[in-house]
Order: sequence, then structure tokens, then C-alpha cells
Amino acid sequence: MQADTVKKSSSFVSFYKLSTDDRLKHVKEFAGLSEDEVKTIKSGALPFGSAERMIENVVGTFPLPLGIAVNFLVNDRDYLVPMAIEEPSVVAAASNAAKMARATGGFKASSTEPIMIGQVQLVKCPSPVAAEKAILSSKKEILALANLQDPTIVSMGGGARDLRVRILPSLTGTMVIAELLVDCRDAMGANLVNTMTEAVAPLLAKMSKGRVNLRIISNLADKRLARATVRIPKDALGGTEVVDGIVDAYAFAAADPYRCATHNKGVMNGIAAVCLATGNDTRAIEAGAHAYAARSGRYSPITSWHKDENGDLNGFIEFPAALGIVGGVTAVHPVAKICLKILRVKTARELGEVMAAVGLAQNLGALRALAGEGIQKGHMTLHARNIAIMAGAQGEMIDLVSARMAEERKVRLDRARELVEELSKSANRQSSK
Ligand code: MEV
Repeated sequence: MQADTVKKSSSFVSFYKLSTDDRLKHVKEFAGLSEDEVKTIKSGALPFGSAERMIENVVGTFPLPLGIAVNFLVNDRDYLVPMAIEEPSVVAAASNAAKMARATGGFKASSTEPIMIGQVQLVKCPSPVAAEKAILSSKKEILALANLQDPTIVSMGGGARDLRVRILPSLTGTMVIAELLVDCRDAMGANLVNTMTEAVAPLLAKMSKGRVNLRIISNLADKRLARATVRIPKDALGGTEVVDGIVDAYAFAAADPYRCATHNKGVMNGIAAVCLATGNDTRAIEAGAHAYAARSGRYSPITSWHKDENGDLNGFIEFPAALGIVGGVTAVHPVAKICLKILRVKTARELGEVMAAVGLAQNLGALRALAGEGIQKGHMTLHARNIAIMAGAQGEMIDLVSARMAEERKVRLDRARELVEELSKSANRQSSK
């Protein structure tokens, strides 16, 4: 039986309680990692030479924690989800929400074709309407020229698919915007699309009798969407009050941009962490998500929640998934490559679908905590552990000190030191009896 056909579950009880080595053992088994790959993730190594080829003026590298969100079931397939993020509680919240979702079959996700938009700005066209007509009548020729730039993507079933033109009134006068719609298959596509727009621009200038200005991809990738839905039984959440609290929290975000920015930030905690772990462009994903959230002219949540006729909670997410699993950083960053292997995604669309599920789970975790006990308890538990370690606690004492501080709501270094001293003295007394 091939490794990938073996039934592998992402469901774990208390994964967080395992040692790092035990967690890695499970991940290794799940994803079929080699010993070397395990070593690479543990060290987080990005060779200096690779870093130097990635950006300019390199002086070092900047490691972040890499966690694994467990319990994800998306379209009946199990996923362990690598997340690179500095913020406590995010990985735990995603894992907990995914666990609740498993009871009803997990997340159902879908996506559109991987179409990105490339824009060519044409200014000073003597007649924008005539320019539009001329460009559209030569669509075939323009698309053919675009596709000459990358025969490989064309041979894989992708390439420039369509061309559209918009006449855009602006601060500096009416401009003509020609847009290439490019199927990027499993690449994020920025290089591909930018090359195509630059290649067709002179032809567009000639046809429009205008001047070419910008030639660049659009990060509002609204033709490359990923979606997910989930249903959580009210009892799994803790009852009707919790369901109502979450729906009210969503309604708050839908009614108020101040809340909505934080609501969407919480969703993006999950999406951006997977994006970073897989070597994708977090800024592109963030820009796309927020622009998509404002597409109606009003900044809105990218998730929605409602209560169904049974009183259960139903969630939905849709966001532009400009993601790749080939090329770019995904191909050169050793840890990103392994993260993609852990995810076992076969296409960029599948990666977007998993990310949609993670974003929805993240939002659920945040809203459930916010509408209930608040988020500080969860945040503080990890913070308290760090403070306890800073105060000199070791072994079992770390949990004892952090639990006491959390209980007293005094998560401070001075209190941690007092508790370490107190507990050490009492341990000494016990051992001398
Ligand atoms: C914190 O990083 C994210 C939250 O603020 C999200 C939210 O408020 O929905 C908890």
C-alpha cells in the first residue's frame, strides 16, 4: 500500500501535552517525512546562501515558531496544518475549533479556477471608447502574445484565458485599463502575470493610441476564491447562549468597521500563518482579503455565522486565495517545502481550501472565547508559563507557578519569583522530613 493511501487521522487528544520530539514523531509518520526533513524543521534552518538569493542586504535570518494545528477534516480528508506565527493561542484555538467541527464531518470547502488578474494602465487615449473597441477586437492576438511568454504554463492547461477592458474615470482623467485573466494553475502567478502584462503592453499602446503606464498583477484576486462552510451543533459549543453570542459577535462586525477589522484580523491569524509556513506571500493574501472584504463599498467580515432551524451554528468563509505550491519561496525555503509535504496538498486550489477551513476555525475559536470567558485566559496561560520559566521555575513547577498566577490574575515576574521561592522552600521541607 502506498504511504498516501494509508488512512491517516489528524485527530489527536492533547497533542499539546506531548514533547516536541513526540509531536514530530506523529507528524513524520503522518506525512512520511525523512529523518533529514525532521531535523530541518526542528532546526528551522534557512541556509545563509538561500537567504542571500532571496532578498538584498542580507545580514541574517529571522526564525519564528512553527506549530501544527491538529484535527482538521476538510472535504473528508485529514490534514495536519503547519502554522508559522509568533502569537500564543492561535494554533490551540484552530485545533480546538477543528475538533468541534469533526463531529459533523468537518469543513466542506471549494474553490474557483486559479485565475489572477493582470492590469495594463493606458493613459491619454484620444478616445477611450475607440481604444476599448480596438483592444477587444484584437483579443485573440493579445492573448496569443501573452501565452507565448510561458509555454510551460500553457502546456499544463493554464495561461492567459481572457481579456477585458474597463474605462476608468480618475483624478488625472479618464484612463483605459486592459486586464488579462490568467490561469496560474499551481503557481501564485505574480511573475507569470507581470511578464505577460509587460509583454502585451506595447501592442495595447498601439491599439489604444494611448501611453502605457503601469503593468502589474492585481492583488484583489476575486476570480481565485476559496470557500469553506461548517456546522457546529449547539451542544458542542455549550448551548444556545453560546451560539447566540457568536452570531451577535458576527453581527457586530458586519455593522461596524472598527470591530470588523479585528474580526478579519482574527481570521487572518490562521490564514497568514499557513501562508507563511508554506512560503506564500502573506502581504498579497492580506491585501486581497481586506480588499475583497470591502468589495461592496462597505468593509465587511470575510466570514459569516448564523443559527439554523435546529439552533446549530453555521459558518461560511470566502477569500481570494492567491497561493502557489510551486515556484517562488515554496521551492527554495527548506522548511516551506516540508510544510507543504506535511499538508499533503496536491494543488494550489486544495491549499486555498484548507486555508479557508483554518480561517473559519480561527474565527470560530476567537468568537467563542470572546463571547464567553474572553481571550485573556488562553493568552495568559502561555504567557504565564514563559514568566514562570523566566523566574527560574523548572519541570512541574512551571505549571504550578503559571496556574497560580493565572488564578490570581497576577501574571508578573515579581509574583512568579515569590511563588518559585515559596514552592522551592516547601519542596525542600518535604524532602528533609
Ligand atoms: C487576536 O490576535 C485576534 C482577535 O482579536 C480576533 C477577534 O477579536 O475576533 C481575538
